[in-house]
Amino acid sequence: MARIVILGGTGYAGAHLVNEAASRGHQVLAVSRTAPESLPAGAEHLGGDLRDPAVLRTALEGADAVIATVSPRGELAEQGALRGIYAQLAEIAREKDVRLGVIGGAGSLQVTADGPKLVDTPEFPDAFQEEARELDAVLGDLRTEGEGLDWFFVSPAAGFGAYAPGERTGSYRLGGDVLLTDENGASELSGADLAIALIDEIETPAHRRTRFTVAY
Ligand SMILES: NC(=O)c1ccc[n+]([C@@H]2O[C@H](COP(=O)([O-])OP(=O)(O)OC[C@H]3O[C@@H](n4cnc5c(N)ncnc54)[C@H](OP(=O)(O)O)[C@@H]3O)[C@@H](O)[C@H]2O)c1
Repeated sequence: MARIVILGGTGYAGAHLVNEAASRGHQVLAVSRTAPESLPAGAEHLGGDLRDPAVLRTALEGADAVIATVSPRGELAEQGALRGIYAQLAEIAREKDVRLGVIGGAGSLQVTADGPKLVDTPEFPDAFQEEARELDAVLGDLRTEGEGLDWFFVSPAAGFGAYAPGERTGSYRLGGDVLLTDENGASELSGADLAIALIDEIETPAHRRTRFTVAY
């Protein structure tokens, strides 16, 4: 059993992670400003704003792994806001020897091995441009981290999101820096299956100090 902290544990991806980790018997701490209406057995909630480093420190106390699922939206939409929080998080995770996972976006994935990033293609929606670029910058920051930080960054499928919750199938494929698509050209993943892939990664680390992608 591991002690796993989910930053943004009441959001779309975060709540799936809390449920998946708790259902496997891990000790889970969900962190967000607003308390959830309910939590699964084995999970606790810490209320706080992640812009306060004291909240990050408290959350990571005694943790084995932390997965950050906060999106650069709302009050964190300003360019650099989430990047700043994640830089502090990385520092605290290194200091406390906690494995750090960050959920990013599909936009930073390349469309083919020698092709452009998805965010740089004409098809990429304008509405997600800033979010994609902020998360790509977070990945860039992680890649400059020294050996002392055990991190991974996951880019979900392009069609992943609260608007397409999907089903829990228990199957997924893993890739590296290139967008994964199915035989019809679709890139999809449910919230429940992303959570399965990430708790699998916590239980059996296969990606250290690198980015990977998850899709069907
Ligand atoms: N296809 C794709 O590439 C794709 C699609 C969707 C999402 N994503 C990415 O996946 C990740 C998860 O997205 P999501 O849609 O699951 O996010 P979400 O539903 O918006 O959840 C965000 C969570 O963060 C918490 N939060 C926000 N600001 C906070 C603060 N200042 N302090 C503490 N907690 C805070 C929220 O709770 P409170 O507001 O109560 O604090 C909530 O629990 C993000 O990085 C997002 O960009 C990628």
